[in-house]
Amino acid sequence: MNEHPTGFGPGTFGSDYLAEAATLLAHDDPFPGGAVVPPIYQTSLFTFANYAEMADTFAGRRRQPIYSRGDNPTVMEFEARVAALEGAEAARGFSSGMAAISATVLAFVGAGERIVAVRNCYGDAYRLFERLFPRLNIKVDYVDGSDPDAVAAALPGAKLLYLESPTSMLFELQDIAHLTRLAKEQGIVTSIDNSWATPVFQKPISHGVDLVLHSASKYLGGHSDTVAGVVAGSAAHIGRINEQTYSSLGGKLSPFEAWLLLRGLRTLPLRLPHHMKSGLILAERLKAHGQVERVNHPAYSNHPGKATLAGYAGLFSFEVTEDVDIPAFVDALKFFRIGVSWGGHESLVVPAKASLEQTPGLNSMARFGVSPRTIRFNVGLENVEDLWADIAQAFDKAKK
Ligand SMILES: Cc1ncc(COP(=O)(O)O)c(C=O)c1O
Repeated sequence: MNEHPTGFGPGTFGSDYLAEAATLLAHDDPFPGGAVVPPIYQTSLFTFANYAEMADTFAGRRRQPIYSRGDNPTVMEFEARVAALEGAEAARGFSSGMAAISATVLAFVGAGERIVAVRNCYGDAYRLFERLFPRLNIKVDYVDGSDPDAVAAALPGAKLLYLESPTSMLFELQDIAHLTRLAKEQGIVTSIDNSWATPVFQKPISHGVDLVLHSASKYLGGHSDTVAGVVAGSAAHIGRINEQTYSSLGGKLSPFEAWLLLRGLRTLPLRLPHHMKSGLILAERLKAHGQVERVNHPAYSNHPGKATLAGYAGLFSFEVTEDVDIPAFVDALKFFRIGVSWGGHESLVVPAKASLEQTPGLNSMARFGVSPRTIRFNVGLENVEDLWADIAQAFDKAKK
């Protein structure tokens, strides 16, 4: 593997993004009283000195937070940080990734309209599209996002293109620059779930994407202590979300969680290269292991969508051979705890089989052909040799 911590070599995208993020996240102008950390504005409302201040604020002649379902200074600090990282004009924080996804999509599509979504998108986004959208008379066409012809065929007449590159179970890539160009030619708004790559490994706005979504519960927070979401984009697009859905649906981010996210963000450029390196080491060893049939990791893809990635996160999956007893393998692991989220400090394992059995009819994985022999690893910050020893002993115990 390349000596450079990004694995992509100095002077390439990865190192530029990381270097840029490092100073951006470590350096702040002092906060009130010279504090190096922002205060948590744990308040529901903000008062005005007099009638004129209130009237001017409501009329937009003056900017001051009014009520924390709208603006809150700690949350605004987090939003400004994400906007800067993504190279966006603005960002909006939400109480969860799903609050960000639903408020964003619903701001741009309405009854009688249609969106095009990548198949195998995150499960609850699929649930939103499958359960709520039919009741609102919004149609969703699912496409194999790795096939630009399939996307091109589905685009005409759509209002929004919903991407997630890579997808979070099979790690299929989309050529976001190409697909965005196709959508732009037809005036279609584009969005991407960038939770996996984060802005230190992929900057979708620089490839023309309009709206970048995150489950901030994952790498942005990075410590498995917060559920939160954020969307970044142009001032006009974020303005539309503010106007249409943000304060009316009410899924705002709490000041304390924004503060935790700001704390987590500071180490993003340190954590991601570690996740990447350990993930690649384990992926390589799994690939060579006799009880593994294939490894789903973007490093092994030759899809053009790889060109926008400046690095790899530590979440990937693999398919085991028939002679592996999957429940026994999962139960034998000590350092990979069994759990669904990812992006935190701790290693986790998800057997697709358990999840496929749980939600029949509402599982894009079942519908779009994820093998039940697929297992997903979130590679955390532990010593990679301890992780590998754990995996090796679990395979031994699980051999049928
Ligand atoms: C790829 C992806 N996008 C979005 C979400 C939703 O985020 P949240 O759980 O913060 O609502 C998740 C959550 O697991 C996810 O994995």
